[in-house]
Amino acid sequence: MPSPKPKTTQKVTKAVIPAAGLGTRFLPATKAMPKEMLTVVNKPIIQYAIEEAYEAGIREFIIITGRGKAVMENHFDHPYELADTLQKKGKLAELESVNKVLPSDARIYYTRQGQPLGLGHAIACAAAITGDDPFAVLLPDDIICRDKENPVAEMIKIYQQTGQSVVLAEEVPHDRTNQYGILSLAGKGIQNRRAQVSSFVEKPKIEEAPSNLAIIGRYVLTPAHMPQLAQTKPGKAGEIQLTDAMVEVCKREGFMGYVSQSKRFDCGDKVGFQMANLYFAMQDPYIASRLQPFLHQTAAQYDRRREVRLPETTKSAGKKAS
Ligand code: UTP
Repeated sequence: MPSPKPKTTQKVTKAVIPAAGLGTRFLPATKAMPKEMLTVVNKPIIQYAIEEAYEAGIREFIIITGRGKAVMENHFDHPYELADTLQKKGKLAELESVNKVLPSDARIYYTRQGQPLGLGHAIACAAAITGDDPFAVLLPDDIICRDKENPVAEMIKIYQQTGQSVVLAEEVPHDRTNQYGILSLAGKGIQNRRAQVSSFVEKPKIEEAPSNLAIIGRYVLTPAHMPQLAQTKPGKAGEIQLTDAMVEVCKREGFMGYVSQSKRFDCGDKVGFQMANLYFAMQDPYIASRLQPFLHQTAAQYDRRREVRLPETTKSAGKKAS
């Protein structure tokens, strides 16, 4: 059977990367250092997002920055003096790692969000650069492993097949649906990991969650989102919510959900950040060979400390019961 005709031939070559948040969960580290520049092994978090988007065909990156975030611009700049020194010293592997930070056919634009008024507001700051083009949004906090697939590349295909915006979703335990933006599904539900979305509900009460599919930090959005964001009033916590604009665009244009099967680390959270560091460190055979015995040893010490504490817990529990 011939495959259905694509609904749009418009390519998605631009991505908005919001990086103007305050990163309060990492204070005091983020007092002077942007959260997006914290390193996972040897690369800042934001570089993982740039690499993922580039691999999916994105060539123009719009990074939303804020006060104290200029170090990100330095990171993606070509460091002439460093490159020259590494070349002269014959440190070619290091030189390659520096040159790979930004491929030569990629362009980065920086635009400031004067005040952190929410994710929707941050994305709207890129409107003059995205213009009438569709665009991807990648929240750099979420590092997504690409050993199975590149979700953004898949989402761009769905956009081209349907002409509709696409959001990446992840199944979460039902009792945690109140922590996420949740998809409400239309019609046939999930088929081949795709679903037609009827709406979105931001952090619903658990008993009111329309599904257990949570929005995670990847979107491919139609141009209609920018004018919609411009009219969106502050919602929860006085912030301009991206989800509110998506609800309106969904009513007019429809919206697709794509269910992720990729491992994801929420690096905006201290636990997720540590897990990402361990996971990526263990991918490097040299680091893994040194780290693994240390991890075993540390885990064994932790278990022993718990064993020492256990009898006390048992004693006090016994007292309570009597
Ligand atoms: P978060 O919700 O994690 O907020 O933002 P945050 O301020 O960075 O961190 P905490 O909660 O205070 O610890 C998700 C992404 O959206 C960006 C952030 O930089 C992050 O990449 N963001 C958020 C903005 O660019 N502007 C905003 O107003 C809010």
